[in-house]
Amino acid sequence: MCGIIGYVGEENATPVLIEGLKRLEYRGYDSAGIALLHGGEISVTRSAGKLVNLEQLVERNPQNGSTGIGHTRWATHGRPSEQNAHPHRSGNLVLVHNGIIENFISLKHRLETEGYRFVSETDTEVIAHLLESYMKNGCSLQEAMRAAEVDLHGSYAVAALCVTEPDVIVTTRSGCPLVVGRNEQGSFLASDVTPLLVHTREVVFLEDGDIALLTPSQISVLGANGEELTRETVTIDWDAEAAEKGGYDNFMLKEIHEQPQVIVDTLRGRYNYETGEADLPDLAMTAEELIAARRIWIVACGTSWHSGLVGKYLFEEMIRKPVQVDIGSEFRYREPMIQKDDLFIAISQSGETADTLAAAREAKRRGARVLSIVNVVGSTMARESDGIIYTRCGPEISVASTKAFTGQIMALYLLALHVGRVRELLSAEEGRWWLDQYTALPGRVESVLKLEPEIKKIAEKYYSKSNFLYLGRGINYPIALEGALKLKEISYIHAEGYAAGEMKHGPIALVDENMPVVVVAPRDRLYEKTVNNLMEVRARSAPVIAFGFEGDEELQRVADVVIHIPAVHPLLTPILFAVGLQLLAYHVAVLRGLDVDRPRNLAKSVTVE
Ligand code: M6R
Repeated sequence: MCGIIGYVGEENATPVLIEGLKRLEYRGYDSAGIALLHGGEISVTRSAGKLVNLEQLVERNPQNGSTGIGHTRWATHGRPSEQNAHPHRSGNLVLVHNGIIENFISLKHRLETEGYRFVSETDTEVIAHLLESYMKNGCSLQEAMRAAEVDLHGSYAVAALCVTEPDVIVTTRSGCPLVVGRNEQGSFLASDVTPLLVHTREVVFLEDGDIALLTPSQISVLGANGEELTRETVTIDWDAEAAEKGGYDNFMLKEIHEQPQVIVDTLRGRYNYETGEADLPDLAMTAEELIAARRIWIVACGTSWHSGLVGKYLFEEMIRKPVQVDIGSEFRYREPMIQKDDLFIAISQSGETADTLAAAREAKRRGARVLSIVNVVGSTMARESDGIIYTRCGPEISVASTKAFTGQIMALYLLALHVGRVRELLSAEEGRWWLDQYTALPGRVESVLKLEPEIKKIAEKYYSKSNFLYLGRGINYPIALEGALKLKEISYIHAEGYAAGEMKHGPIALVDENMPVVVVAPRDRLYEKTVNNLMEVRARSAPVIAFGFEGDEELQRVADVVIHIPAVHPLLTPILFAVGLQLLAYHVAVLRGLDVDRPRNLAKSVTVE
């Protein structure tokens, strides 16, 4: 939810922190702050609102110091305000925190009886006072952090510094991501690698319970008893430029246009054309294990859940295995009848979504093999899974997920091919046929992207409407859901996605001339049924926006406007339609004058439930 950054070294920390926060702003953006340690004093600068407010404050009142921490917030406890912005102070120390302290009320009462006075509405402030109270009793900052961990229930990544230990930042995590790295100018910490890439490509992802001590010349990772731990250093090959907007007006548009490359990257080196097989070395499952898996479970949230639903249609058709798709927050709290030998697939762009992570842990506890389809390398999900397929999308900065969705579906295509070949449901020749289709997709997505001017015209016609209905059938039912989600999250227009066949069972009551109906209608075996649904919509005077195949003249007769995408095998249509719907949502939001990259009330990574 929030982003934290820290630097200790030889340079002025302010620009490092501000630049770092800019790259973390997608994690939360209702307030921000930094703290610098200099000459035995800590200066704290905080501001409500977007980071630019903090930047202006810092410009007007520059602070020096080569040890500093920073934070960009997405409120959980307490309003977005300067008072609730981090860093929070207690005595000689300050800290920043990402996550939620579940027992903060009882801790607050305990600390109040010790004489601490609370000045914010946050749960974070209890951590500051807790550390201070341990330090007052003789602990070092690191010892205080270890002691506080016993008291704290919930999820957190914390970074703290104090006057009595200059040139040191102490940081720890439990359930929230934290990464550290260093170069010749000093040591860095952050919630993810994005702000570190301009400083170093060699990073260490901390594990739950690790305490890291950062000084200008080294980073030590300590275990429960203060023993030094060796943690693997990971080389990140993301281009720092990849996190920039690269000439587009915003990250969302840039990321939509990156999708042909995402397909190329996600396929790269992962198939053998000769044998018609997919090659997924990190799957960590043998052919026997894949064959033995009785049932496939797919669990995810939001857009990733929609790609999971696409996976269901794909797997049932291509590999003839029963597939159950669940939302993370539902799976974790029911009694899923998952069995040992079932294959559990968690899908997540960030790899940090609390509900998906909890579901994956539950599945593991019940004996299932956990495979994750994840974008962020070294994320908690990736580290806790038995097998991984990374989607290789690069950082997705825009809160609305676009390219990650495409990467996830490509990973599912590879997995379907792999299992299909292993189970001998597909011959080598059929495998090659699928690979030809997969590798042709980037060019087909390029063709859809070229339709942007036409799609923009549709947006211009309908952007002032208040409600939209999205319809699709079969493997494109999840695409209707995804199209509606994209529209609602960035344009704040009410939009519903429905299985077209379900329309008569309720939503048709809403349909009138003020409700544009967006329909995804490939020429597949359900085409005629979808056209019938469109007739029903037309009979109620609703404007129909259809996405169909090139050369489909019939669709023209039942729709007000048609966008023609390249004709492909029905199972390969979801990405192409999704790209068209992303562009529609994008242009509607831009025409409404909204900040598409940072929609209100949303955060990129939902690390609390
Ligand atoms: O990082 P994850 O893929 O696990 O995130 C899941 C959802 O929070 C995410 O897809 C969300 O729905 C996006 N805002 C969709 O654009």
